[in-house]
Amino acid sequence: MKILVATEKPFAKAAVDGIREIIEGAGYELALLEKYADKADLLAAVKDADGLIIRSDKVTAEVVAAAEKLKIVVRAGAGYDNVDLAACTAKGIVVMNTPGQNSNAVAELVVGMMVFMARNQFTPGTGSEISGKRLGIQAYGNVGRIVARYGKALGMKVCAFDPFVPADVFKADGVEVADSVEKLYASSDFLSLHIPATDQTRKSIGYKLLTSMPKGATLVNTARKEVIDEAGLMQALEERPDLKYITDIAADAQPQLAEKFGKRVFATAKKMGAETAEANVNAGLAAANQVVDFLKNGNRRFQVNK
Ligand code: 3PG
Repeated sequence: MKILVATEKPFAKAAVDGIREIIEGAGYELALLEKYADKADLLAAVKDADGLIIRSDKVTAEVVAAAEKLKIVVRAGAGYDNVDLAACTAKGIVVMNTPGQNSNAVAELVVGMMVFMARNQFTPGTGSEISGKRLGIQAYGNVGRIVARYGKALGMKVCAFDPFVPADVFKADGVEVADSVEKLYASSDFLSLHIPATDQTRKSIGYKLLTSMPKGATLVNTARKEVIDEAGLMQALEERPDLKYITDIAADAQPQLAEKFGKRVFATAKKMGAETAEANVNAGLAAANQVVDFLKNGNRRFQVNK
């Protein structure tokens, strides 16, 4: 059987070596498609693959249709909004993610981003400290939970909102809970987003929430650009010269945002939340193990299209 690793943004070498060891150790063939620029390359490579390991690579209905033997897709990472689940399900293809495996890397980036914005993007001038400030966490999953821990360690007052998480989880972590998303925004000097991009969350963060934030507040987005209502963000930044926005996933309107708001906004050049050797190894090896365990033993733990 052939397992294709298709990564437009490649894994670190140590991760690829580890994936190879697992796949070949199981008696399968490993095919590598890295840094591909053209969708046609993925369509050709997936044709005879039995298993597929990806990162943010788009597995569209077209890719699924081209895959004649595909049985499993594992997204090495958390968010699987890049996979057409309906197309996979219709063809009986199992889709999984690797929850938690790259969370620490993203959480560390959140800390770095808060400090970076509080210190004028590391340019001269008087900045501020994040210790003592209120940190709001929207969605308390694997990443949000680590961000809460790091925020507390830095002396921040941490509060979270997540209607899907039971109260005892917050209690165990010593984290305050906001009754509503509105209350969370209204009381956060820094707001870190950890919601996935779904039909419910797309464009859900906009003018109203942003303008309710306290003076000098910063929105930190290491989640997805799709959850932001960009027109609302633009208007909020225009009306509130104290607000700041930093993101790991450039907005479609990032050039206009940068031109209009200068140092109050920042976007990384390419999504780098999970770009650590450790996260690549954790997520890549987990993905390879999940592929093997599914093909050999039928283990469907972590399946997201049940
Ligand atoms: C994730 O959903 O796991 C992160 O956004 C990381 O995505 P990446 O593999 O494209 O870096």
